[in-house]
Amino acid sequence: MDAYRIVGGKKLEGIIEIGGAKNAALPILCATLIEKGTYILRNVPALKDIKTLSKVLEKLGLEVENLDKNTLKVVNKGLASIEATYDLVKTMRASFTVMGPIIAHEKRAKVSLPGGCAIGARPVDLHLKGFEALGCVIQIHHGYVEANATELKGAKIVLDFPSVGATENIVMAAVKAKGQTILENAAIEPEVEDLCNFLVSMGAKIEGIGTSKIIIDGVETLTPGEYNIIPDRIEAGTYLVLSILSEGKVKVKGAIREHMDSYLAKLEEMGAVIKEEGDLMWIETSVKELKPVRVKTMPHPGFPTDLQAQIMTLMSIVKGTSEIKETIFENRFMHVPEFNRMGADITIKHGVAQVNGGLPLTGAEVMASDLRAGAALVLAGLVAEGETILNRIYHVDRGYDQLEKKLNSVGAQIERIKLEA
Ligand code: UD1
Repeated sequence: MDAYRIVGGKKLEGIIEIGGAKNAALPILCATLIEKGTYILRNVPALKDIKTLSKVLEKLGLEVENLDKNTLKVVNKGLASIEATYDLVKTMRASFTVMGPIIAHEKRAKVSLPGGCAIGARPVDLHLKGFEALGCVIQIHHGYVEANATELKGAKIVLDFPSVGATENIVMAAVKAKGQTILENAAIEPEVEDLCNFLVSMGAKIEGIGTSKIIIDGVETLTPGEYNIIPDRIEAGTYLVLSILSEGKVKVKGAIREHMDSYLAKLEEMGAVIKEEGDLMWIETSVKELKPVRVKTMPHPGFPTDLQAQIMTLMSIVKGTSEIKETIFENRFMHVPEFNRMGADITIKHGVAQVNGGLPLTGAEVMASDLRAGAALVLAGLVAEGETILNRIYHVDRGYDQLEKKLNSVGAQIERIKLEA
């Protein structure tokens, strides 16, 4: 199994360029199932999750080809199957997002229930309620969800919670439904907005993009074309921590500030001064000047759960007591014992992590429990004294393109090694 060996405490300096957003590229790739034609998608990050989804799409009958590292050509000549099987969906939960587009294309679909994952149970009830409202009969048999409709009809749908995946799945199922769909309490994450913009670029009629009330007027056909995916705000937020660790010598290139408001506001509350020039963003404030803070993860525009672990790295080296309340996923503190193995002092009570920061981190052998936890432990390894071995980096590969190359280019010492299983 691959692991990272990280030697901490190196002087860091340079520019890290941000790639395309994984969480925008995934639903946009799913959307190519809706209509026959040829799609060119640019700024697609070269990640394991994208490869996994490409395989799912190929099984469903699409042709997926890399024109270059970050450009994908997808050809939809009609679907060969309406079924996404367990072996594919279990490896990546986001594959469940093929269901809405398959329904839009075929008025029926059979997709494996994704099951839980390390960070929580993650049910799909909201997705299914949306499909039902659009006219699908939903049945669950032997771990599969089957949807069948004679006709898809627009409907008013109010989500109980602004789920990102449910919003995306329902919007895609509704773009060709007859009449108008009004989706209230929709997720307003920038990635949901990007998916809607992609659909509009193909001729879908969607209003209220980027708001919690999305109005879709069904169209008969869409016209596939080219699209450029937005930059990854979570990757940018991860590398901004390095900017602080290097007192501004590491700069992040290509992030969109408005996508990161709540995260940057929290860093500012800690005392960080965010600088920008052209497409570069950096923070010159040193760790010593930062204050502890309280963070509560929330749906966008609140503080993103996907940056919770990374800000914990910062909290653990900033003097004073910080707190994180995780409200999106019930089990997303698996990185805490790993941080503590590196000398941090973090306790969890009633879903709140209390971080008694300011202790020196020391290198240790640790394990990535999920994608973002892995990234946070890499950051911890870079600031820790001595050597850190990070196991299970297949999680990190799912979401960070060329992590070690980017980090080594700014002076870090991190290498991929093979460990006996
Ligand atoms: C997406 C992101 C993930 C991010 C999350 C929250 C992708 C590929 N993944 O995941 O990185 O951490 O948004 O910002 O874009 N829920 C239900 N019923 C449902 C659907 C969701 O109870 O039908 C619950 C989930 O269990 C979870 C919460 O809602 O507790 C948020 O989930 P959701 O917003 O759907 O996240 P994902 O789309 O899975």
